[in-house]
Amino acid sequence: PPRTAPVVARTPEELDRLRPDLGRIALVPTMGALHTGHRSLVAAAREQADAVVVSIFVNPLQFGPNEDYDRYPRTFEADLAICAEDGVDAVFAPPVEVMYPGEQVVTVSPGRMGQVLEGEFRPGFFDGVLTVVNKLFNLVRPDIAVFGQKDAQQLAVVRRMVRDLCMPITVMGAPTVRDSDGLATSSRNVYLGAEERTSALALSRALLSGADASVTGPVGILSAARDVLDEAARATPPVAVDYLALVDAHTFDEVPNDFRGEAVLAVAAWVGKTRLIDNVPLTL
Ligand code: PAJ
Repeated sequence: PPRTAPVVARTPEELDRLRPDLGRIALVPTMGALHTGHRSLVAAAREQADAVVVSIFVNPLQFGPNEDYDRYPRTFEADLAICAEDGVDAVFAPPVEVMYPGEQVVTVSPGRMGQVLEGEFRPGFFDGVLTVVNKLFNLVRPDIAVFGQKDAQQLAVVRRMVRDLCMPITVMGAPTVRDSDGLATSSRNVYLGAEERTSALALSRALLSGADASVTGPVGILSAARDVLDEAARATPPVAVDYLALVDAHTFDEVPNDFRGEAVLAVAAWVGKTRLIDNVPLTL
């Protein structure tokens, strides 16, 4: 059933006026274009706190000069309707001048955790993410913040930031939501044409194949996933892989063949002009 629409705050002052009514806050940071993945974070957040705040902000600091900042989907009215339906209490949607009133001189960097995988292919990306997440934490001051496993490296660097900088926030991870065909839901899936979308299914298929080879250890896992991606590289339209890696879930270092513990099998690839990422957590 539709609920009352969330209150929208555009500035830190507007947020501060709401705070006394909110109680324990769970924050779900997003860039909008909300889909089933975001909605699952909201559902998880609602179980953890008195009030759920969703932030909607397309953060220019985490986009490279040749990336899709300008064409990133912006669907604010539809997002608000989803937030209303899902019982979100407040939406924080600051204009860019509020978040970046001047040059951002001081930033937060995840060090070597931000230099591998996504960080290697998107230099500065995780500095942009951690800097804006830090700002959102300081403005909203949540007790809990919920992030998706879909962006596994982001979740790991946010957890590390909170730990290394002693931030008084509990970070919660939520599992990846997929469409019925296996494709992880993403705001960027709207860029995919029908044939591209079919090719894109190779990502989740490769991860599943890797996961199925789990007992064979890292070399077997990677080669099972690689086989699927090699075939997809020859499909029309082709899948062009940036990386496929098996890493320690906490450090994002590549795992040695005798590794035991929590790992992540992660992939990033291009289909046409769209860059997609996906991963699956594995216990080795
Ligand atoms: P965005 O891509 O909008 O994602 C917001 C949150 O939703 C992230 O925590 C992401 O991991 C989660 N999410 C996206 N797709 C998901 C899926 N299919 N299943 C589960 N969770 C999913 O990530 C960002 O925005 C930004 O980097 C942000 C953290 C907001 C900082 O700008």
